[in-house]
Parts: sequence; C-alpha cells; structure tokens
Amino acid sequence: MDLEKKKVLKAAITALGGYIPDTILSNQKLEQMVDTSDEWIQSRTGIKERRILSDNSKATSFLAIKAAQDLISKKKLDPKTIDLVIVATITPDIHVAATAAYVTSRIGAVNAFAYDLNAACSGFLYGMSTAAAYISSGRYKKVLLIGADKMSSIVDYTDRTTCIIFGDGGGAVLFEPSSSGYGWEDEYYRSNGTDRMSLRIKAGGSLFPTSQETLENGWHNIYQDGKTVFKYAVAEMSNVTEEIMKRNGLDEQSLDYLIPHQANKRIIDATSKRLALSKEKVLVNIEHYGNTTAATLPLLLNDYENKFTKGDKLVFTAFGAGFTWGAAHLTWAY
Ligand code: UT7
Repeated sequence: MDLEKKKVLKAAITALGGYIPDTILSNQKLEQMVDTSDEWIQSRTGIKERRILSDNSKATSFLAIKAAQDLISKKKLDPKTIDLVIVATITPDIHVAATAAYVTSRIGAVNAFAYDLNAACSGFLYGMSTAAAYISSGRYKKVLLIGADKMSSIVDYTDRTTCIIFGDGGGAVLFEPSSSGYGWEDEYYRSNGTDRMSLRIKAGGSLFPTSQETLENGWHNIYQDGKTVFKYAVAEMSNVTEEIMKRNGLDEQSLDYLIPHQANKRIIDATSKRLALSKEKVLVNIEHYGNTTAATLPLLLNDYENKFTKGDKLVFTAFGAGFTWGAAHLTWAY
C-alpha cells in the first residue's frame, strides 16, 4: 500500500450525554450507617455526597441507556446510524450477556454491534483508544462509547473503607471522523496485573466460582487495599500525564484542561501539584458524585461541556483495578 497516499482520519468527540440517579447518599447518611464522619470523608477524599440508583429492579443498563438517550436527543442523532456501541463497566447487568447489546437494542441502534469493556476505573479511558482507532482506521463512522457503573450493587455498606467512596452514574460520548482537524492526538497506556488482588471482586469468576464460602466471606463485594492503591495511583497518574504532556509539547501554560479520574481529591491534587497545574485547569466533580468508576471521565466532560472551545488541549488520565492506567491527549473539536 502507498502509505504516502493513505489518508489518516482523525477521530473526534462530537457529542456528550450523562445521567446520574436522583437519590443522594450524603456523608451525613453514611455517618448513620458506619463508623465515619463527614469531616473524615471530606478531608480524606473530597467527597460530600454520591448518587445511588436505589430502585433494585434497575441496573447499569438503565444508567447507560439514560446517558445515551441524553446524547441522542441533544445531538438529534438518528440511532440507526450508530455503527458500534461499547459499554465500559465492571458492573454489567448480568455476567453473560453483554450489557452493551441490551443498551443498543433499547436505544434503537438497530444497525450497531456492541460489546462490554472491562478495565475498571480506566475502562472509559481505554475505550476512548478503541473508539478512536475504529474511526481513524476508516472502518466505522459513528462509535458510541458509554461508561456506566452501578457501584452500589457491589459495595458492602458495612465496610467504611469502600462505601464512602463509590457512587452510581453513566456518561456517553460519540466518536466520529473529525471535520475540523481537531480530535484524538496521542495516548500512553499501561497495565500491571501483579497486584491485582489489591483492588478486586474476588469471587464469581473462574478462580473462585460462587460457593457457600464466597458468599459467607463477602467475596462478591469490591475490596481495596486503599493505601497501596493510593500510592500507585498518585505515582502512575503523574508519570503518564507528565509523559503525554512532554511528548506533545504541552506545559502548564499550553494545556487547557486536565480531566482526571475522580477516585480521591487528594490523588487529583497530588497529580496537579507535580505538574504545576493551576486549579482552574483541573476538572473536578468528585464532591457530588464520588467515584463512579467508568463514568467519571464522561460525566466530567458532560458537566463542563460549556467550558470547552474548539482547539482546547485536553489531557485525560485514570488509574484503576488491574492495575490499569494511562493518559490521553485530545484537542476539542467543537
Ligand atoms: O478508583 C480506583 C482507584 N481507587 C483509588 O484510587 C482509591 C485509593 N485509596 C484511597 O482513596 C484512600 O486510601 C482511602 C480513601 C480509601 C482511605 O484513605 P487513607 O488516607 O489512605 O486512610 P487509611 O486507609 O490509611 O486509614 C487511616 C485511618 C485508619 O485508622 P487507624 O488504623 O489509623 O486507626 C482507618 O481505619 O482511617 C480509618 N478509616 C476511616 N475512618 C473514618 C478508614 N476509613 C474510614 C472512614 N471513616 N470511612
């Protein structure tokens, strides 16, 4: 193939949508459930409240469908034109079949194929790479990427070290070929599975299938060794963000916004400090939603959409179970 002549398409985000459930779980409510305090939670995590999908008949697909429908109505998009739907999640409705297939049918994307992607808190970040690659290869023209998690379905509300952190939510973005020249620029992703037990749901998979023992020991809930994860997250999010900025000629002046995974305000602050970024450049909404896992990045985009202008230089970064982490650079296309 004549590479000189091969036109490289750039993938751009062209629409956003989001959804958070109505029920608020405040720090004050948590004080009545476990031995904790509003002061401890706010000073250690920056979280004031999180949203919970309290209707037990509804699952992650509900959050994903709502987020997708928000995008579809804002963009006036015909769902029949969507080629592919990816749902990044660690809380699929059921283990088999893919939540994405159900979401796709429910939003009327009858010509799309669909699958789930599991990279925990990095799920949406990794999904952006996949979506962008499908577009820039020329294979598909409309890829809907959704990050959604009903974390309340896997949280043990007697465990104060995890129940204070997580919340439920969903966000959606549309990737299309760029018509402005702006869009996906670069990515720097990593993973390391040697410490996978530091942040995990131990049972229900092929290593520890559901049994009396797994149920009695609470191995179906999310567990994390907070300190270990915290240290890794601070070091690695800073490393990859520094690297992506360096190799794209970005510094604290020329970068417009850092869009970091919302796991803990102290992790975000440590990363921003190492990169000498001013407060206005670092997007944060953790105080209202907590850590919504795969939904944090698209919910940030959705909340701050009005701030962005064409050509803005954005850097995304996330760290999550696996461990999985990375940073990506994108120029805003609208
Ligand atoms: O999104 C995926 C990635 N996840 C993360 O990035 C999360 C990373 N980790 C964290 O955000 C933090 O480690 C936590 C928020 C989970 C915990 O904060 P920490 O500052 O690392 O606290 P710690 O685990 O070192 O615990 C300090 C103390 C302990 O008491 P002692 O042993 O010093 O007496 C804990 O038992 O705080 C205690 N503690 C609490 N106290 C009140 C732990 N949780 C709570 C709580 N309320 N909810």
